[in-house]
Amino acid sequence: MTQDEMKKNAAWAALEFIPRNTVVGVGTGSTVNHFIDALASIKHDITGAVSSSVQSTEKLKALGIAVLDLNSIDSFSVYVDGADEINAHKHMIKGGGAALTREKIVAAVAERFICIVDETKQVAVLGKFPLPVEVIPMAAAYVARELTKLGGRPVLRDGVTTDNGNVILDVHDLAISKPADLEQKINNIVGVVTNGIFAQRAADMVLVGTAQGTQVIR
Ligand code: 5RP
Repeated sequence: MTQDEMKKNAAWAALEFIPRNTVVGVGTGSTVNHFIDALASIKHDITGAVSSSVQSTEKLKALGIAVLDLNSIDSFSVYVDGADEINAHKHMIKGGGAALTREKIVAAVAERFICIVDETKQVAVLGKFPLPVEVIPMAAAYVARELTKLGGRPVLRDGVTTDNGNVILDVHDLAISKPADLEQKINNIVGVVTNGIFAQRAADMVLVGTAQGTQVIR
């Protein structure tokens, strides 16, 4: 089975956990693109979606799913998104698609976070995947120096501007043994908008596409 087939299986398995007649939170990425295809198959049974990126918004709309403004909703039950890495505590690194800030905002409003991944994303320790940090452009050099002091090797992601008009520093060489602590430390650097550690708000459930089928981790 290919990696994309495992992503697709995890994405379609998420449908079982989507309550009907509610708003659904939608992440960003290739796994989520499969989930949006799946969601379109029940579009008449949901109220609509809140989206975490321009990319997902365009795909949702193209498939006839209403996209609602997050500010018009007090809460909603489920947010579905992928990850670049996930550990046994359901802590994640996200932001490979540069959508981390809106993803973290939408996840914060959701009652439950369902993470959909293929088995290659499971790790013992986060950090082999370079940690994305969204930064206000004028602060990039300062933030890079501060991230170096924390033991990382930040590299500006070439040619990428986020949906919020910011830049991304990908931080290499981190072995993240205490994800929630590092998440907080990086958040405290002036000029950082968001970092891609999702530990303070971890996933609640993980659907892992494997060669043997989709595993549900509660
Ligand atoms: C985008 C993300 C994605 O969830 C993450 O990069 C995983 O992407 P994919 O499903 O394409 O492997 O955080 O910012």
